[in-house]
Amino acid sequence: MSAITIEGSQRFTGRLRVPGDKSISHRALMIAAVGRRPCTISGLSDGDDVTRTRLAVQALGAQVEVHGTGEVTVAGGLAGVPGAIYLGNSGTGIRLLAGLVAGYHFTTTLDGDASIRRRPMDRIIEPLSAMGASVRGSGSGGTLAPLTVQGRPLRGIDYTLPVASAQVKSAVLLAALRAEGPTAVHEPVPTRAHTEEMLADAGVRVERGGGSVTVWPGEVEPPHSIGIPGDPSQAAFWLVGACMAPDSDLTVENVYLGPARGGFVDVLARMGADISVDPDSGDIRACTSELRATRVSADELPGCIDEVPILAVAAAAAEGVTVFEGIGELRVKESDRVASIIEMLNGFGAQTEIDGEALAVAGVGRLGGGTVDSHGDHRMAMAAAIAGAAGSASVTVEGFEATATSYPGFARDLSRVTGWSP
Ligand code: S3P
Repeated sequence: MSAITIEGSQRFTGRLRVPGDKSISHRALMIAAVGRRPCTISGLSDGDDVTRTRLAVQALGAQVEVHGTGEVTVAGGLAGVPGAIYLGNSGTGIRLLAGLVAGYHFTTTLDGDASIRRRPMDRIIEPLSAMGASVRGSGSGGTLAPLTVQGRPLRGIDYTLPVASAQVKSAVLLAALRAEGPTAVHEPVPTRAHTEEMLADAGVRVERGGGSVTVWPGEVEPPHSIGIPGDPSQAAFWLVGACMAPDSDLTVENVYLGPARGGFVDVLARMGADISVDPDSGDIRACTSELRATRVSADELPGCIDEVPILAVAAAAAEGVTVFEGIGELRVKESDRVASIIEMLNGFGAQTEIDGEALAVAGVGRLGGGTVDSHGDHRMAMAAAIAGAAGSASVTVEGFEATATSYPGFARDLSRVTGWSP
């Protein structure tokens, strides 16, 4: 495990680009992998998770030509692979692939690291089984990875998501491509809409409205090229850093601004952040701000689910008590993020309290230093590093290598925007 120490009192300045959106990258590779014509994808995330998905679709039979940084051409066609496919730390990779392969004629085994093997898979096993799929999990309840997906003929279903999860919605919608009849998914709260947007762009019949998505089976004809914009979840780290740190003025360029991803900007704006979005370029700019507490409702949470670790850091530096409602899903992320966030913030001297499904964070103004364990969770490692750079004293992040999951260049970019050197 590698540790890194970041001195406090940095300024966040300049302009930068973050890796291509991770959610869109996974989907671009998977949709192209079942497409009828080649698709060139540019701006692909360089994180380990997306590399695993690229290797997975390649192992399954898609032809993948890597041109250089973030650019690949994928010619679709899946034929199956005898051994297990290893998806590393990637919940999106394993859950979406399970749906993608469920209606093929071959058997696929999907596995991942220790964190993936702890995360709930019953949420996809249940709806995929209702479609006629055979998905067998491991563990005493058969609900954990590794998963064995034995391809079967599928039928369309009408499914209401019990949890607000874009991964579950997407697994079902990808399986729907090979089902008999349409499949409808109803969402309690809107989640990221990449799968339905991208399937529609690939010529699939998709109807949306009133909190529901319906997908009809059919051929996938991906566009000749897909350009992936910057990942808002990665942009959030730098923007919060700029709000918290003194004398800061930073712009993240070309960020994805579509539905259910930009909730963190609204939360920060309510906290009094000096933050602005250019809807034409996708550039987001943030400057040093006096932050104050806010309440993030349970309905709002899915729109900023991955940003809670860094928003919690902002809350710890704000005036007053910030409450995050409906945080249950955070317990089953790459780490138990409720526990990881509390441990991190308490280490910085902030007070936290759990009341049922709500997390309250009492701000302490400028954060002090400390040592934070990432628990192997990329977003915890990056949140802690930003807290360190923007706070008043140095922070040591143990397990910093977890950043490679989604942002291998994070330390380099931290140097670029703050002048800190590792
Ligand atoms: C994702 C959906 C979310 C999110 C994850 C990416 C996706 O997970 O936390 O990082 O790409 O569909 P859930 O579906 O579990 O909420």
